[in-house]
Formats: sequence, C-alpha cells, structure tokens
Amino acid sequence: MSFDKKVTVAHLSDLHLAGRNDRHQLARLDRMFEEYLSRGYDHLVMTGDLIDTASPADWEILREALERNGLFDWSKTTLVPGNHDLINLEEEMRIYNALNPNKSIRRHRMEARLREFDALFRPLISSDGQGEAGLPFVKVMRFGELSISLVAVNTVAPWSVTDNPVGARGSVSKETLQALLEPQVAGVLDGSFVIGLCHHAYRVYGVDDLIDQAFDWTMEFRNRDDYLRAMKKLGASLVLHGHSHRFQVYQAGGVTFINGGSFRYFPKRYGELVIGADGEWSHRFVNIVT
Ligand SMILES: [Fe+2]
Ligand SMILES: [Fe+2]
Repeated sequence: MSFDKKVTVAHLSDLHLAGRNDRHQLARLDRMFEEYLSRGYDHLVMTGDLIDTASPADWEILREALERNGLFDWSKTTLVPGNHDLINLEEEMRIYNALNPNKSIRRHRMEARLREFDALFRPLISSDGQGEAGLPFVKVMRFGELSISLVAVNTVAPWSVTDNPVGARGSVSKETLQALLEPQVAGVLDGSFVIGLCHHAYRVYGVDDLIDQAFDWTMEFRNRDDYLRAMKKLGASLVLHGHSHRFQVYQAGGVTFINGGSFRYFPKRYGELVIGADGEWSHRFVNIVT
C-alpha cells in the first residue's frame, strides 16, 4: 500500500451505545464501519461517550463491533473515554447518599473504572498489547514519509454533588499534564503531525447562535487552558473531541478544535480529516447515504 499522497482519518464521537438490545443503533454502527472500510480510511478515532451506561459489559459491545469489522487493531483505531463511559450517576448518588464518601474515594472509583477501560481496549493503546499501558498515551504512526501522532488523554472528572452534579464537567489531571510535558514526549513527537484527542469541549456553546452561547458550567472543561497550553507545547495542529453533541470546527489559541458531534443523534454523519505529507490538512463532515 502506498501512502505517498494523503493520510485519511475518520472521526466519530458520542455513540452512547445503550446495551445489547440497542440493535438498531448497533446495526447503524456496522453500517458506518462498512462505510469506512469501503472508503479506505487509514485510521479511525472515537472521542468518548462510547456507551451510555458506564458499564464495562457495554464497552465489550463496541469492542466486538470493531473486531467484527477488522478494526480492533492498534494501527486502525484509537479511542478515549467520555463521562458516560466512566461515571455511573445512579451509582454515585446511591453511594453518596448511603456513605457520604470523601472526594478521594470518588476519584479512586473513577480511576479504577478507567483502568478497566484501559485493560479492555489495551490492544488499541499499545502495539504489543502488553503491560500496564493506559491513558494518557501517545501513538506515533508512520505512513511513508508522513508521521502522525495521536496524544490521547482522559478528561473525565470524578462526580461530585456540588462541583460536578451531572458528571459532565471535565478536567485533565495534574499528573497527565506533567506526563505530557516530560521532555521525552516532545522528543517522540518531533517531526510528526500531532493531533490531540480528548472527550470534553474546549468551547461548550454553539458558535453561530447568540442565544445558544449561554455558558453551561455543568459541561465545562475546567482547566481547558492548561490543556491547550500543553497541546501547543507539543506542537499539536488539531484537537479532536466530542461531548457537546455538536458538529463544529473552531479555533482557540492557534489550535483548531474539531467536535465530532454525536453518532447517537446524527448516525449518518462523521468527520473526515485528510493530511498531506507537507502537513497541509483539510476537514469536512460527511453524510453517508443509507
Ligand atoms: Fe455525549
Ligand atoms: Fe460527554
């Protein structure tokens, strides 16, 4: 296969798969994956809220769908979790009401779920599927002359009755920011076309409609500017994300952010990124015909 010309990436977000009985949606997902295969994309990216239930058994449904379509492979697919993958609101409320646990217990519970997520999707995180590989991670892929790197982080913040009441506020942990800023990371990414992947939106309102621009703090990416600074330091051209279920492209601090919308609510639409060897890139949203 020759990669002399362009590298193509398909971006899908916020699938919100709702279990094995969600047959209609799963059939639409197979249809979408078939479309990717027929169009010959080099890579598929999914930016969180893969499922709707935060139940690890439901992540397996996505894993099976990827396997069925030959996409469960490090070189073919990369994904990050969203709040609906890691936070089970009902469970949080129940435990909160029963035990009133402190903050660190909630953080531990979310981190434990994240480790389960890492374990199930490890073959997409580490090329040999070994070890303790998990988020955050960097994936460097070579396509002939062109090297493309994906910098994937978790932006899901633990639930809190006062601070994160619907579990939809996000942040990048201090540890993650420190890890990204280790000099080795910049070294690994040197000369590569760098794309950041996260779930939460840098901008949570629509860009066109003034009425739509009311700031919604429950959806907020709290330390988005720390994240933006880290991405700029790593030379990222783009960040792909999801969360607010809007298909949009916007700029922040010289980085282009692309929101992949929601497959759950718009199952015929996805983002397509085309990157040339000279670092020139273009993006469009594609509507498939079913
Ligand atoms: Fe979502
Ligand atoms: Fe979300």
